[in-house]
Amino acid sequence: MSAYLNAVNRLRIVKIQEVKVESPTVKTFIFQDKLCAKAEPGQFIMVWIPGVDEIPFSLSTITPNGLTSITVAQVGEATKALHQRKRGNVIGIRGPYGKGFTLTEGNIIIVGGGTGLVPLMPLTEKLVKLSTKLTFLLGAKTKDELLFLDRIDQTLSKVNAEMVATTEDGSYGLKGIVTDQAEQKLAKEKFDMIYACGPEQMMHKMFLLAEQYHMPFQASLERNMRCAMGLCGSCVIGKLRVCKDGPVITSEQLRTVKKEFGKFKRDFQGKKIAV
Ligand SMILES: Cc1cc2nc3c(=O)[nH]c(=O)nc-3n(C[C@H](O)[C@H](O)[C@H](O)COP(=O)(O)OP(=O)(O)OC[C@H]3O[C@@H](n4cnc5c(N)ncnc54)[C@H](O)[C@@H]3O)c2cc1C
Ligand code: FES
Repeated sequence: MSAYLNAVNRLRIVKIQEVKVESPTVKTFIFQDKLCAKAEPGQFIMVWIPGVDEIPFSLSTITPNGLTSITVAQVGEATKALHQRKRGNVIGIRGPYGKGFTLTEGNIIIVGGGTGLVPLMPLTEKLVKLSTKLTFLLGAKTKDELLFLDRIDQTLSKVNAEMVATTEDGSYGLKGIVTDQAEQKLAKEKFDMIYACGPEQMMHKMFLLAEQYHMPFQASLERNMRCAMGLCGSCVIGKLRVCKDGPVITSEQLRTVKKEFGKFKRDFQGKKIAV
């Protein structure tokens, strides 16, 4: 194994430098790590919460000086324990793992929902230097759950870009769901790449739209992960291991897993559960 892979796989203890409250259920944890400075947008790390669990998170910030962050929704035991961590507390990390987004030039559309916006943030910060036009569609159930509004606004402010926010209850932006907005855009304009991350039903709908309008597509998938190195099989979808072949998966790959994508995933015992 190369020295780089050895270093990536070794558990590193990092100190939380700052905790930012993003919404009533989402917090960002900022820390310093040299290996994360080299991560591609879309790659993830395994985070060990001592005495509780080790779970995967996309990187929400990637900077050349190693200032890094994860943005965490509180959904269960481990994320609840993480949310109780404060500035100065430590967590264990390994990674970055997996295949991130492939950067594309030209006319780009990005579609994100809920915490799916997390890996799309470092991606957008790279794409603003490459794209001729950027359309950013983001959605959530309510205004409270719309993440990174200011950061997106600031990132897009200096380029040829448009941001459209949707909420299901109409409490911010347009009332409705983000995929309806996306469909309207795809019907009118040819995009050089569609990037998506969010609830799997949303990414599935975006995949079908990308197929219908013959446009290239990349999405970041979530599956249960344990080893994150392609060894344990807990993250499989068809013949793909999401931790190694993904988490960013292309249309070509998704065509091979149509029976599972948007329908079910496997629990840690291998049993099918609805997504
Ligand atoms: C590549 C990847 C990137 C992710 N990025 C983010 C992110 O940026 N922000 C964020 O809030 N969440 C992210 N998640 C989801 C996050 O890992 C789960 O919310 C977390 O593991 C839940 O743990 P829990 O103990 O709090 O909840 P539990 O009650 O144990 O589980 C709640 C849900 O999380 C899923 N989950 C539990 N353990 C794992 C595991 N080891 N691997 C994957 N899913 C698990 C369960 O299937 C269930 O659907 C990501 C997942 C993956 C696979
Ligand atoms: S998490 Fe073990 S093979 Fe992917």
